[in-house]
Amino acid sequence: MDKFIIEGGRRLQGTVAISGAKNATLALMPTCLLAPGVFHLRNTPNNRDVWTFSRLLGSLGVHAELNQNTLFLDSTNVTSTEAPYEHVKKMRASIYVLGPLLARFGEARVSLPGGCNFGPRPVDLHLKGMERLGASIEVESGYIVAKTTSSTNRLQGNHIHFDVSSVGATVNVLMAATLAEGETVLTNAALEPEITNLARMLVSMGAVIDGIGTTTLTVQGVDALHATDVDTIPDRIEAATYLIAAAATKGDVTLRNVNPYHLTAVIQALEDSGAELDINGETIRLTMEGAPKPVDITTAPYPGYPTDAQAQWAAYMLASTGAARIRDHIYPTRFGYVSELQRLGADITTDEGSCTVNGGSKLSGATVMSSDLRASASLVIAGMMAEGHTDVLRVYHIDRGYENIEQRLRELGAVIQRVPTDEY
Ligand code: UD1
Repeated sequence: MDKFIIEGGRRLQGTVAISGAKNATLALMPTCLLAPGVFHLRNTPNNRDVWTFSRLLGSLGVHAELNQNTLFLDSTNVTSTEAPYEHVKKMRASIYVLGPLLARFGEARVSLPGGCNFGPRPVDLHLKGMERLGASIEVESGYIVAKTTSSTNRLQGNHIHFDVSSVGATVNVLMAATLAEGETVLTNAALEPEITNLARMLVSMGAVIDGIGTTTLTVQGVDALHATDVDTIPDRIEAATYLIAAAATKGDVTLRNVNPYHLTAVIQALEDSGAELDINGETIRLTMEGAPKPVDITTAPYPGYPTDAQAQWAAYMLASTGAARIRDHIYPTRFGYVSELQRLGADITTDEGSCTVNGGSKLSGATVMSSDLRASASLVIAGMMAEGHTDVLRVYHIDRGYENIEQRLRELGAVIQRVPTDEY
């Protein structure tokens, strides 16, 4: 296992290129199960979640190879419709194979993903969606066993309303609906940019989808789809993380390969805190001088402030001149990082679904432990703000979603190194 050793107090300065979006890639990869052939996913990030998903697809008979950020997927010979626990337990998005397998082969057996480090994350909406498309769903020995029930062995189009806006359920049901018989209408569908990336890929495979980029998606099912090539959108959460890190260290950082429209809520919060942002096409330059003003945030589905960037915001607000409240209505228990920030001297109180960061306390380096992907990004930012050395343990969490983060931060002037350790 590796840890990061960070020497705090350095100002980030320079340029960083943002990778393709992890959460988009995880939605694009399973589309290869909808059609036989060779796919190329350009701008794929080289991170642990992509490797995990590649191994899962490998266990289903798909050949996956990442070469210079282009992911090659050959789904000519899908040999299995079962996603085993050993893969699913490592990554919840593994459940994305359910929809495509069921739609194309009429059956799927997928391990239930279970809980995660920031509270319960049910999959009821995924399952309800498949049932509304005519599948029978049973849970047997920890596995979701899904089968089509029609005489044609195909899913059947239907109207599906999501009670809660869910990225994952929208991804899964949208993929399934492309090969269903008849029309499917999804209402209150998630409209995150990663969904739009997926929907456009599906259209380039021959799917017929209206309403892309809105909360109502209408799909006319087709008999077959074909392989395609796709460009993955830039990672808005990675971009948000670097912007916040730049502001937290009173830095001057330019991001390349970003889509500023995907970052509106984060950019606004940064501007409100006193950072200056200069947006030019696909680049954003952030400069920050002095202590930030406290800015409250409340997470919300896109285009609201993303839950995946709230832990980083909490670290940033430690430098502020007052109290900032962070509310997470999407994942109300996603505050596992608070006790670790407190080890660095942070003054933070938690309440039901929120925390209040009282800025201005002196932060001093300590050993802290990552509990999930974005919590670890928060700890790295806080470590760069603290005086002295901070050891961040369990950085395998951060490796799930950030490509070469320590190298990129070093290039921006941070003092951070990865070392193997027995501590965990
Ligand atoms: C995705 C992202 C994750 C992000 C989250 C919210 C991926 C791989 N992961 O996760 O990084 O934090 O969106 O933007 O893209 N819910 C249900 N029943 C369900 C599914 C979800 O009640 O069947 C609830 C969840 O508990 C949560 C809310 O819906 O409160 C939104 O979750 P969802 O959008 O589904 O998150 P994920 O797709 O798991």
